[in-house]
Amino acid sequence: MQNLQAGLVGAGWMGGTLLKRLAERSDVDVLALCEPNGDRGGEALGCAGLPVSLLTGNYDDIISNPDIDAVWIASPNSAHAPQALQAMRAGKHVFCEKPCATKFSDFRALIEAERANPDLITYVDFILYFDSMESRLRQMVSDGVFGTVAQVQVNYRHPINIAGDKVWKLSKETMGDAIAMGINHALSVMIYLMRSQTGPVGVLATSRPAQIRQFEEDPIWNILVKFDNGGAGFCFGNIENSNGYDAYHNVLGSEGGFVFDSQLERTHKVRYWSARETAGKWVYPLDPDRCAREGRRDFAWPPDTTTPDSGDVVNHQTSECVGHFIECVKSGTKSPLSFTNSAILSEIGWAARMSAATGKQIPLPLDYSAAAEFFD
Ligand SMILES: NC(=O)c1ccc[n+]([C@@H]2O[C@H](COP(=O)([O-])OP(=O)(O)OC[C@H]3O[C@@H](n4cnc5c(N)ncnc54)[C@H](O)[C@@H]3O)[C@@H](O)[C@H]2O)c1
Repeated sequence: MQNLQAGLVGAGWMGGTLLKRLAERSDVDVLALCEPNGDRGGEALGCAGLPVSLLTGNYDDIISNPDIDAVWIASPNSAHAPQALQAMRAGKHVFCEKPCATKFSDFRALIEAERANPDLITYVDFILYFDSMESRLRQMVSDGVFGTVAQVQVNYRHPINIAGDKVWKLSKETMGDAIAMGINHALSVMIYLMRSQTGPVGVLATSRPAQIRQFEEDPIWNILVKFDNGGAGFCFGNIENSNGYDAYHNVLGSEGGFVFDSQLERTHKVRYWSARETAGKWVYPLDPDRCAREGRRDFAWPPDTTTPDSGDVVNHQTSECVGHFIECVKSGTKSPLSFTNSAILSEIGWAARMSAATGKQIPLPLDYSAAAEFFD
């Protein structure tokens, strides 16, 4: 099969990492990088072992290049939807950093564009989907290890980096909102974890303004998601401040529970119990010695199991998400994280904003007419 011909836009922290991942692959040729900061673009190409001749400051050079099959979008948030729509109109597959849109009207346009172009593969980079602890946890919930899950908490509390020209992350116009900027990672974990058992039917949220840094939008969020089986999900989100990187998870079902605490030592980060699998006793699958001491070596997870412990994208599952998207393109299969398949995550974000502003619970699936009236 021919190599996939790729273009990438935005060679900052995330884009530079994605560029390296693309360059490492033998089934991809990078044909162009669009980056307005020429020095940074040249450096990113150099780090990826690619020629500086691939650099352009004009996104139209990617869009008008008929040889480019797919575009990786890692520019600031407000550029994602306009760049994705342009790429789709030009018949190109789209790998889009989260969030897919900062305006509700753009979000709708993306959904419509995907429906109108069923052959195009789209993907929103909710990268925690590929973390091996998260895949395992999804499987455990689906296998009924914890019975019927009634309560789940997933936090995203992490002071995002606004150094240098990353200061755009303070701007309402460019960042969108704090849920879009990062708290949606926690929501993606919650919704995909619960998906095998139930789906969300409502959102109640509160937020508060910045206390420390000059965020134009509220950086602190408390989001309650109601599920159709009567279960509930809760997310503490804070992109301004935290007690260290906090991606705490707490899952409780009728027959078991699971706790992940990103701030503890590796051996203590994960513990779970299950009436069926552990006879109701807590086990620590990231502590192989303890599993062995307790006579249950079979509970130990492989040493290369990853956990979501930091906001440093360089150590995240960038190879996996790039590989997943390429496999979807090659096989013509829609990603579970396509614009339409992940739309519920954006809907929760829009609903949370509507709820915080009105004090009311907002039903899901989102009423797009009501949301358009609220946001547009
Ligand atoms: N999925 C994840 O885990 C994850 C992690 C980090 C960042 N991100 C996302 O990646 C995106 C980039 O974040 P970052 O931290 O790398 O930011 P960054 O500021 O480091 O990089 C953005 C780059 O885009 C360039 N740029 C600015 N305007 C542009 C435009 N109109 N077209 C093309 N390029 C433009 C800037 O010069 C800069 O080099 C954001 O949307 C962010 O949400 C995702």
